[in-house]
Parts: sequence; structure tokens; C-alpha cells
Amino acid sequence: MTEKLQKARDFEALHRPKVAPQLPAYHLTGGVGWINDPNGFAPYQGEYHLFFQYNPYDTQWGPMHWGHAKAKDFIRWEFLPAALAPDAPYDKDGCFSGGAATLPDGRQLLLYTGVEARPEGTFQSQCAAIGDGVNYEKYEHNPVITAKELPDGSSTQDFRDPKIWRENGSFYAVAVNRGKDGSGDVLLFGSEDGLHWQRKSILFSCGYRFGTMWECPDFFHLDGKAVLIHSVMEMRAKTPEYHNGSCTMYHIGHVDGENCFHAEASHAMENGIDFYAPQTLEALDGRRILIGWMQAWEGAKQKIPGMSFMGQMTVPRELTLRDGRLLQWPVRELERYRTEKISYKDITIQEESQLPGISGKVMDLLLEITPSERCTEFTMEINKGDGFHTDITLFTKKGTIRLDRSFSGFPHDVNHVREFPADFHNGAIRLRLLLDRYSAELFVGEGEQAASMVLYAPEDAVGITLRSDKAVEVSIEKYNLEITENWRMCHGE
Ligand code: FRU
Repeated sequence: MTEKLQKARDFEALHRPKVAPQLPAYHLTGGVGWINDPNGFAPYQGEYHLFFQYNPYDTQWGPMHWGHAKAKDFIRWEFLPAALAPDAPYDKDGCFSGGAATLPDGRQLLLYTGVEARPEGTFQSQCAAIGDGVNYEKYEHNPVITAKELPDGSSTQDFRDPKIWRENGSFYAVAVNRGKDGSGDVLLFGSEDGLHWQRKSILFSCGYRFGTMWECPDFFHLDGKAVLIHSVMEMRAKTPEYHNGSCTMYHIGHVDGENCFHAEASHAMENGIDFYAPQTLEALDGRRILIGWMQAWEGAKQKIPGMSFMGQMTVPRELTLRDGRLLQWPVRELERYRTEKISYKDITIQEESQLPGISGKVMDLLLEITPSERCTEFTMEINKGDGFHTDITLFTKKGTIRLDRSFSGFPHDVNHVREFPADFHNGAIRLRLLLDRYSAELFVGEGEQAASMVLYAPEDAVGITLRSDKAVEVSIEKYNLEITENWRMCHGE
């Protein structure tokens, strides 16, 4: 093991809190330091492994390592020691994002981006590391995909984030590259052994239709359709779906005989404020599961006083396809951790109301809201107390939902408001809200919309109130979520 990796492992072992009431109850963080993109999200030896972009030493982005955790049920994560450090000449400036797959001999293969700054510029190439689920050795002939495999005129500086999978005995990977027009391309590569790679095609090109450069691609089939996901840099706001800056998109379509992807429908993946760089895996029972970095780059650049970590993952979500759209729903395993059900059926709300038993910060909350004819606006305030509140407002006539976290404890103003379309069915709308100490994830209907945001209101801002301009009928089910605290995850209990 190199000194750099040993140092990272020693540091996290010493500093990752053992008793940590200030950490999220069930959203994965690095425990210490900073995390961004999920990496190498893949089954291995009957469990689900998740690596992540990781700077253990500071709550800001820095020298990129790969942190590591695993879970049997997507919820109860157990930390493993850091897997990769930027300790080789070809990755000395960062082990950037990538994927994982299992080799025919049973070992785990990681494919990641090595970043190397040289006097003549920065180079990104794809590198391999092989291991047993805990310890990984970088391949002696790294890098395994270099500029030689790039199309003419494309950038050697922006070439990253390989997502790898195995299909019919061969390995495939998609990676992003800044093409010769200066915007993003998704390239498709193939390999027989996971170590020798050839470019098969330019799978899909941005052509400046959706932002500029792309990041973190993923590609899979779902219900007979090809699905391509990627994150977008410098998106320009268009419809209510797309807003300025970083965002994530998916395209549903098909692949032709030349390995080119044709999009039949394109959409924003999330409607919230904090979501980027997701990865998916095929679960052992065949479900397609997605996990995202629950953070926007724009808001990540501030230090939150008193926080020992920066960056959280979403709860993993089951993906399904319906009417040309991806639906997202929290993994069903989460429901095993529900306790203490409190419910209200068909109650009428108008005045601001605080319902007995409906308060707290860690819960799974289901609501069905049926507005009366003249109602235009219904608001649920969460994380409420001492001047703090986060508002989720339903505009019943416009058919939109607005998130407003202007009073949620951020030291600086970044974008704190987002509004997006939400469909009513037979005059009613169903919402599911996953609340954790530092976040809210909202799912509309059966997962037609998902919207995440991180929140930093103090621990005792636990109030939840409902109010409406005219009467609404509401049914509520609230469950506490009791999940292993992070200190127990550290011990793998
Ligand atoms: C996306 C990203 C990736 C890169 C990584 C670096 O958030 O910019 O493209 O590999 O983060 O940490």
C-alpha cells in the first residue's frame, strides 16, 4: 500500500465520528471530509458496493480519492477503508469518477479517470485497479484508455467518468469527452478482458443542445428501451424543466447498427435543487437502481459552520419506465425501517395547523392532498423553529410545486427556490417526503417527479405545519425511520 493511501485510511479511521448525532440518519456521507459523485456502484459478492469521490482531509473538494462503503439493502451502509488515492504518476492530480464490474476470475475491476497535470496541460485518461472488495492494486500498464482512442480533434483534457458493465462475456464502458465542436460527446468503448479497450463509437453528441461539456454518463436498457443518463455543465434555462448551471438529464431511445444512440425523449432527471452525477446498477433481483450526489456544485462551494462533512448521497431509487418517462421511487428496502405509524384520514386544513405527532426531522411522510374548488395554494412548512422554515407549496391551479429553502440555515444565498410541474390525478395529488437531518427528498405521484434539497436548519427546528388559502382535504401517514447510526455503520454492526 502506498503512503498516500495509508495516510487517508489512518485519517478516516481516526476522524470519522464514532458517535455522530450530527450526521444524517440514513443518507450516506463520507463521515469526514468531502464527497461528490457516486462511483463504482455495483454488486460484488452478494452485496452492493458504492465508492465515491472523496477528500477526507477537508469539507471542500481537493485531492480526489475513492472512498468506499457497502450495503446489503441499499440503506444500512458500512464504511470500508478508502480504496484509491492519487498516488501514481498518471493520477497524481486526482482519481476522478468511474465504475466497477466483476472480472471472470471473481476479482473486482475499478475503471476510473486518472488526472495528470503536466507543464503542457492537464490530461485525463482511464485507468484500472483490481481488488478483492477491500484492497485494490492499480494495473501495472495504466492508463488503459488513452487519447489514442479519441476521435480526431477532441479534447485530451476533458475525457472522463467511465461507467463500465459486462454483457454477454464482454466489457463495455461509456465515458464523456469534449468533442471537436467543444461540447460533450458520450463515447462507447469495448473490451474482452476489461484491460484492453477499443473505441466502438461516438454514442451520442451534445452539439450545444444541452449545455456545454457533459459529465458522468450511464447507459442501460430498461423495458426494451435504451436509456442514457448524463450530467450537464452550463445548462441554459429553457422550460420549467431546465435551469441554469449544473443538472442531470436522461434520454430514452434506441441504438442503431453503428452503435449510435437516437433519443426519442429527453428530460431533466430531477426537479430539486441538489442532484448531480447519478449512477445506476442492476440489482441482484433485476431492478435498476439509481443513486445520486445530493448536492449541486453551485451550493457546494460554501463551508457550513460546525459541519464535519460535506456531501450526501440520495436514497437509492428504483427506476421504471412509463409513457416515455423514467419514474423514480425510493428502494422498497427503506420501508423495513419504518416505525411508529401516525395517520390522519381526510382531515380538512385551512388555517395553519400543527398536527399532533407530525413533527421531527427523520421520517417517511406520505400525503394525499385534495384541494377544494377555490383553493389555489397549499403550503407545508418543514424544519420549522426559531425563524427557520423550509416551504413546499402546491399551486393547485398552475399545477406546480415550489420548494423554498431561503430560511434553512445556509450561510450564503445560492439558489434556494425551485418550481416545477406536478400532475394532479382525479383532483388529488400524492406526495412522499423523505426527511433526514440535513435533507428532504420529495417524490410526486408514483415517482413522476423527484426533487431533492439539502437543508442546514438547526437540530431543534423540527416543526411541521400545514396551511392553505381555502380548504383542502389531506390524508397523512407518517413513519419514523430508525436506521443504524453512522457510528454503528463504522463498526459494521
Ligand atoms: C462531476 C465531476 C466529474 C469528475 C469528478 C471530479 O461532479 O466533475 O466529471 O470526474 O466530479 O471530482
